[in-house]
Amino acid sequence: MKQKKKLKIGIVGAGGIAHAHMKHYMDFNDVEVVGACDIIPGRAREFLDKYNLIGAPAFEHVKDMVKNVQMDGASVCTYNTTHAECCIVLFEAGVHVLCEKPMSFTLKEGVDMVRAARKAKKILTIGFQPRHDFMHQKVDNLIGSGAIGKVYYMQSGGGRRRGIPGGTFVEKDKAGFGCLGDIGCYSIDQCLNAIGYPKPLTVSAMATNYFGKNPKYWPGAKTFEVDDFSVAFVRLEGDVTFVFKQSWAMHADTLGDTLWLGTEGAIKVTTGFESHNKESRIMYYTDVNGQHIDSVVLPTIPFNAYASERPMDMWFGKMRTFVDAIHKNGPAPVPGEQILYNQAICDGIYRSAKLGKEVEIKIPKI
Ligand SMILES: NC(=O)c1ccc[n+]([C@@H]2O[C@H](COP(=O)([O-])OP(=O)(O)OC[C@H]3O[C@@H](n4cnc5c(N)ncnc54)[C@H](O)[C@@H]3O)[C@@H](O)[C@H]2O)c1
Repeated sequence: MKQKKKLKIGIVGAGGIAHAHMKHYMDFNDVEVVGACDIIPGRAREFLDKYNLIGAPAFEHVKDMVKNVQMDGASVCTYNTTHAECCIVLFEAGVHVLCEKPMSFTLKEGVDMVRAARKAKKILTIGFQPRHDFMHQKVDNLIGSGAIGKVYYMQSGGGRRRGIPGGTFVEKDKAGFGCLGDIGCYSIDQCLNAIGYPKPLTVSAMATNYFGKNPKYWPGAKTFEVDDFSVAFVRLEGDVTFVFKQSWAMHADTLGDTLWLGTEGAIKVTTGFESHNKESRIMYYTDVNGQHIDSVVLPTIPFNAYASERPMDMWFGKMRTFVDAIHKNGPAPVPGEQILYNQAICDGIYRSAKLGKEVEIKIPKI
């Protein structure tokens, strides 16, 4: 068999999640990690050395990295508010990009990223590893088959009872938003991807921080700067309504089930992204000749198995599909153009919650 070309990959941002990227790249025999950068002095060097990449150069600024290292692709693992600037520098240098989720903080940043990728004719893929999750794929498959007809209503589910992550996730200048950008973007992706990502039109939202700002529940209350709960009513093209809710902390075990209501049936996932419910399962509801049918969608492997116990580890899927896309020069596995709609909803929720009224979503022409 023909040996694949060894791809040269760089890593931008050497904090927590960069290690998950690095571990997978190190496992791929068609990838060579050729450099890393991080604005914290010494952090990129320490990161590379940890993986014995002593000869790979370390930088503080992505601009220096692209000047000095030739790369086919790069992972952007910086905090949310610097995703756009780093991606754009990489595209201008002709590098394909896997950018961590959420795509960015503002919609404008997302638009700039997509424009830069288009101009450079490079891949922009966003790091939503649940796309490779067995359960998510079953739902996508069922809804895509037409089993529930036209979907007119969706609601996200799950949520954390106590799950404020801390670190840079609660700093406004770094994360931009809190729970919404951290785990909310996953719920949006799960619901919208199952029905082909319709365009969002309007959002009416509210966001709170009753837990993050309360020292009884969060030791860093004095410096907590973002949302820990948000809820929204979103109108989408094609007469679809989407009720979004997500929490880092609350006095309940779940915000409810994830649900898609269609004209011929419904799908319910009895937990959201963060499961407190060990009985999590997919239900399929329909009507046959006037009879109400409730069915459990049988998994071929247990639902509660960790990703690594599943036939395809979702992190492996995320990293491998990016590398394969570089070999083929596209398409992006989770295209930036599509995730712009996700970003537009996050941006709309943020704006609407701030203004205290419904806002229109206007996505500029790319
Ligand atoms: N997919 C997942 O499961 C997952 C999990 C955790 C975090 N994330 C995402 O990954 C991103 C990073 O999260 P983290 O937990 O690693 O945060 P982190 O704060 O631990 O690391 C971010 C690193 O980026 C560096 N950085 C920031 N701006 C930079 C710039 N302009 N150039 C170079 N380096 C820069 C910081 O100095 C820091 O070391 C976030 O967007 C987060 O949402 C994804």
